[in-house]
Amino acid sequence: MKMETTGKELVDLRKATYDHGFAAEKGGDPMSGFYNLWAGKYDQLKNLGYICIDALDPSQDSLDKSKELQSCNEYICDTLDEHQTKIPDNQYDAVVMCGAFGVPGHVTDACFPELIRITKPGGYIMFTFSESVINRWNSQTEAAIGALSRQGRWELVEYRWVQYLVSEALKEKAKVPVLRILPK
Ligand SMILES: C[S@@+](CC[C@H](N)C(=O)[O-])C[C@H]1O[C@@H](n2cnc3c(N)ncnc32)[C@H](O)[C@@H]1O
Repeated sequence: MKMETTGKELVDLRKATYDHGFAAEKGGDPMSGFYNLWAGKYDQLKNLGYICIDALDPSQDSLDKSKELQSCNEYICDTLDEHQTKIPDNQYDAVVMCGAFGVPGHVTDACFPELIRITKPGGYIMFTFSESVINRWNSQTEAAIGALSRQGRWELVEYRWVQYLVSEALKEKAKVPVLRILPK
C-alpha cells in the first residue's frame, strides 16, 4: 500500500474487498477484475531493497503497473490454489504473500502444496493472516500447517506478529507463520 493511504480509505477498501470476496466465493466475479481497478496502489518490496523478485498475481493490470516500475524479474498472471503454476520446482529461496491469505475470495491453504513445490529445500514461506480473518481461518490453517509438518514437507520455525497496515488509524496486526522447507 502507498504510505499516504489514509485510514478512511483503508476502511473503505477493506469493505469493498470483502464484499467482492464473499461474492466471488459464491461464484461471482473473480478477484482479478477488482484488483485491476487499484493497480498501482501498492509496490513496496523493491523499495525495501530486494532486487530479485518474481511477482504472481491474477490481476494483469497490477502486474503491468509493476512492470512499468521495473519492480520484478518475472510477472506471472495466475492464481495460487490447488493447481500447478508454470513455475519450475524449487525455484525460490523465499515465497512471501501479503494481504491475500484468508481474505474472502482470495488465497486459502489449498495452495500450500504448490508453495512447497516452488520453494527450495531450506527456503522459507511466509504469509500474513490478519486479525480480521483469524477467526475464520486460524484452526483450519494451523491444522493444514500441522498436517504438512507431520508429512515432513516443512517445519514451523515460529509465528511472528507484525503490524499489518501502515496507518495510524488502523493498527491491525497480522500473524505470520515462518515455515522452512525440508529436504524433498
Ligand atoms: C489486498 S491485496 C494485497 C496486495 C499487496 N500484497 C499488499 O500487501 O498491499 C490482495 C492481492 O491478492 C491477489 N489475489 C487474489 N486472489 C488470489 C489468488 N487466488 N492467488 C494469488 N493472488 C491472489 C489480488 O489480485 C491482490 O493483488
